[in-house]
Amino acid sequence: MSRAAVLAGLGTYVPRRVVTNEDLARAMDTSDEWIRSRTGIAQRHWAQPDTATGDLAVEAGGRALKSAGTHDVDLVVVATTTPDHPCPATAPHVAHRLGLGPVAAYDIAAVCSGFVYAMASAAGAIAAGIADRVLVIGAETYSRILNPEDRATSVIFADGAGAVVLRAGEPSEPGALLAHDLGSDGSLKDLIIVPAGGSRQPTGAVTASGTRPAETYFHMEGKPVFRHAVTRMAASSQTLLDRVGWTPKSVDWFVGHQANVRILHAVADQLGLARDRTVVNLDRVGNTSAASIPLALGDAASRGLLTPGDRILMSAFGGGLTWGSTALVWPEIVAG
Ligand code: COA
Repeated sequence: MSRAAVLAGLGTYVPRRVVTNEDLARAMDTSDEWIRSRTGIAQRHWAQPDTATGDLAVEAGGRALKSAGTHDVDLVVVATTTPDHPCPATAPHVAHRLGLGPVAAYDIAAVCSGFVYAMASAAGAIAAGIADRVLVIGAETYSRILNPEDRATSVIFADGAGAVVLRAGEPSEPGALLAHDLGSDGSLKDLIIVPAGGSRQPTGAVTASGTRPAETYFHMEGKPVFRHAVTRMAASSQTLLDRVGWTPKSVDWFVGHQANVRILHAVADQLGLARDRTVVNLDRVGNTSAASIPLALGDAASRGLLTPGDRILMSAFGGGLTWGSTALVWPEIVAG
């Protein structure tokens, strides 16, 4: 029988600085009413300028290791859209700072689907015998790539990190990742994009005149992204449920990517899941992209929503376009 990846620990971290809708309304043409009614977001956390994605990843990763009661992992995977540097990857330095030794470490770039992709990658490494224990971290500092002139993205995206420890175990154990569904559609890459800073348009972040070119900022076409997010997350979730053999009504908690509460409710409606079975923490943390799913899991755990034995369905959607889903039965763990 193949080796399963089993959830053994969970840790989360958000930077201390809270940015409310009112704070944003003072800086740009928006309002608390618009942001709440169109997205469900009331506040978010943005890191101080001296804090990078790797710093948040170390905090969340350390908490996940503590939650798992181990310091012994042999692979670190960091999912992020906002790495510390274009080169090298963020994961090796995070592993070094956590004192994990000369372990394998790499990043995954799948934007808001990054954490689901990273869990699938870690599960593959465990199944193949490449690793026995993996630290999977989703971490972001979107505040670094948001265009302060773009109210459509500035009100949505935010900073934070979440991490899990996955260990080798039996597919029948609580906490085992039961299946994975991953997909992409690169024909729509321009819907969510940072145009410059890569090999197509290499450029420094700041020009000689001291201004930052708009192409170095994150850009999103909100309306089509909304439609694709609903369609893809619903279809991927259904594929996953079929693979696992669960009906939508038997799912205790839907932990979807925290992009917009209207997207989460539309996915729940399409699946035939009760809306009150949807975990929502975006009201307090905004859209934290690759950190979104573990932050939502951690929030649900800390609010006492998750009971051992609960059926958890996770689904994400993001730039690429990319999407993915996985599921597990909630194990006995103490989240950090
Ligand atoms: N404050 C006030 N008004 C705003 C605004 C803001 N922050 N952002 C946009 N608007 C305005 C627009 O300019 C537009 O004005 P107009 O009608 O005069 O042209 C109006 O509000 C409606 O904009 P629109 O983009 O059509 O709104 P929407 O209902 O589609 O909501 C999003 C915009 C971004 C919230 C929504 O499209 C969305 O959530 N998309 C998915 C985004 C996401 O979560 N992506 C991550 C997935 S990985």
